[in-house]
Order: sequence, then C-alpha cells, then structure tokens
Amino acid sequence: MTDHRATESRSIQLQGFGGTDVLKLQTIDIPAPATGEVQLKQTAIGFNFIDIYQRAGKYPLPLPTGLGHEAAGIVEMVGSGVTDFRVGDHVVYMNAGVGAYCSRRNVPAEKLARIPDGIDDETAVAVFFKAMTAQYLVRKTFPVKKENIVVVHAAAGGVGQILSGWAKALGAIVIGTAGSVEKCGIAINAGCDHAVNYSEEDWVDQVIKASDGRKADVVYDSVGKNTFLGSLDCTAKFGMVVLYGAASGPAPSIDPELLNKKGCLFLTRPSVFPHNADPATFRENAAEVFDAMQRGYFKASVAARVALEDVADAHTLAESRKSAGSIIIVP
Ligand SMILES: NC(=O)c1ccc[n+]([C@@H]2O[C@H](COP(=O)([O-])OP(=O)(O)OC[C@H]3O[C@@H](n4cnc5c(N)ncnc54)[C@H](OP(=O)(O)O)[C@@H]3O)[C@@H](O)[C@H]2O)c1
Repeated sequence: MTDHRATESRSIQLQGFGGTDVLKLQTIDIPAPATGEVQLKQTAIGFNFIDIYQRAGKYPLPLPTGLGHEAAGIVEMVGSGVTDFRVGDHVVYMNAGVGAYCSRRNVPAEKLARIPDGIDDETAVAVFFKAMTAQYLVRKTFPVKKENIVVVHAAAGGVGQILSGWAKALGAIVIGTAGSVEKCGIAINAGCDHAVNYSEEDWVDQVIKASDGRKADVVYDSVGKNTFLGSLDCTAKFGMVVLYGAASGPAPSIDPELLNKKGCLFLTRPSVFPHNADPATFRENAAEVFDAMQRGYFKASVAARVALEDVADAHTLAESRKSAGSIIIVP
C-alpha cells in the first residue's frame, strides 16, 4: 500500500563544487514513491572515491545536487507496479543516480538488489559498489584466467583489496602495489602474491622482477597520473592496461603509437555504470558478487565509520591516503 504523505530525509546537498565545505546537511521532503519505486530507510551508505571527483567538480554534475552512489536500507513503502520487493526487505543499490548521502530515498525497484541472508547491511555497502567494479574488471574487461599475471594498483584500497582477492581466486598470480610498507601488508592479506611499494622510484623494475621478467598480462590502474606510464612499462607484449580511475589525477595523454612501441598493448578506460545499466544484467552481476563473497574470494574490510553529518571527514580521510578499505557513512 502506498502512503501519499511526504516524508523527511536528512540529505547532503551541494550548491557548488570544491572542498569538503560544499557538503551541506539539509532536511528535505521526499514524496511517496512513484510507480516502479520503493522508499528506503537507509541503514548504511557506501563512500566511494568517485564521490570526491564529483564533489570537487572533476566529474561535473548539474547543480544543486545530492552526492553518493551506494546505500543499503530497509524497504518502508512500495510504489504501484512493484512486485518483487515488500516492506521490510533489506536491499542495496549502486547505480540509481547521485543522492545516496541521505537517510531516506525513493529508488527505482529495478536498481535494487536484495541482500542475501547472512550478510548485514553495513557489510553489503562495504563491498557492493567496489565488488561490482571488480566483477566487470576480472570477468568482462579482461577475463582473468589461471596463471595470468595481474597487476593491481592501490591494492590496499577498497576496490583494490576485492580485485586482488577475486583475481587470486581465479588462479592468477597477483602483484599488488600500494603507497606504504603497511599497506603492502594489507595487499598481501587481501590475496596478492607480491606487493610493491610504488612510492619507491624503482617500482616498475620491482613489479617486473616479481613477475619473473614476464611482465603483466593485465594492469588494473586506478591511480592514473602517477602510475599510468609505468603501467605501460609493466605490461607484457599484447597485454592490456585497464585505466579505471584517477586517484592521483588524470593520466597523461599519449600518442597511440606508444602502445605499439611498448608491445602492441591494448588500452581501455571502462566504467561500472554502463556495465550495470540493463536491469537484468545488473541483477546477474549482483548475484555473482554475493556468490563470490560467500565463496570467500574477498572480505569486507571496514576502515572507518562516519556519521552523515560528518561526511566531510570521510572525504578528508580518503584524500589523505591514510585509510585502507571501505569507509561507511552512517545515516
Ligand atoms: N571506473 C570504474 O568503474 C570505477 C569504479 C569504482 C572505483 N573506481 C576507481 O577505483 C579507485 C579506487 O576506488 P575506492 O573507492 O576503492 O578508493 P580507495 O582505493 O579506497 O582509495 C584510493 C586509493 O588510491 C591510492 N592513491 C594513489 N594516489 C593517491 C592520491 N594522490 N590521493 C588519494 N589516493 C591515492 C591510495 O592508495 P595508496 O596510498 O596505497 O597509494 C588510496 O587508498 C578510484 O580511483 C576510483 O575512482 C573506478
């Protein structure tokens, strides 16, 4: 049954782009869910690095805007035409448009995945967006096979830990990179066979040495500016460089001829959103993610929890590079 009264939601709203001071908490009214939507009482919100790019205006959004792509919650109201969710269901989403930094939200039912029994809401958001990213990277962009040599940059990070564990589970030899000795230890715990501290100048040589001179079949590079040219040097003939982020800034532009010189390399710049735009494919991918989690390919790793009103602290922590793993925002 749909309740037609408006409900209040505490929501982070941006009137402009910039530093963390643009993140303003407001109380807004949300209408009853429209046809095909459900209303969620959100229980845990996932912080993702893309939130920083969008807050800063590096990936501009129309203003004013909400922020955040991922949350878990309990279905509180069901709009007409929704047959697959009921009040009380625990669900998670990662591709319903920006605006996840809030306490209540209407979300199209086709954008929701049910959280399997035995997984709590916080654990679901600690992994969902990040594991949906790892899923398309190891299964679609470069389908990882046994004995492949796989390099994962920022391997102690949120996506990095999951990607390393999943690639290892598929039988790859995984070489992780990270920015400190401590983070290299975290990368090893996440499933890397070798970990290289890429704040050291000779990190490319160290990666090649760790591969016994074979170089990588695939390099997953989410760091961009500081690693991209090195990634081309770590990649074996006919190998692939998957540039999927820019944590240190945008990768330098290159002449395509460089790919020939470095060994007829393949280069791609993919995104998780088109991979999950089709509702049926999204559900299949989500099922694969939860299955991989239940098989133990990767674990949820919660680095910090911050209250919604203190969400600026989540951004500051991620930008400081001091955290390793997922940051949870508590609505
Ligand atoms: N294309 C896609 O589909 C997609 C989807 C999800 C995420 N991503 C990308 O994947 C990456 C990881 O996302 P995440 O949410 O899991 O974040 P995260 O890995 O937890 O944090 C980013 C990591 O990047 C490393 N880094 C290197 N230089 C940095 C710098 N100058 N400033 C900040 N961090 C720096 C840090 O590790 P060290 O200290 O070890 O260097 C840091 O832990 C991000 O680049 C994100 O944009 C892409």
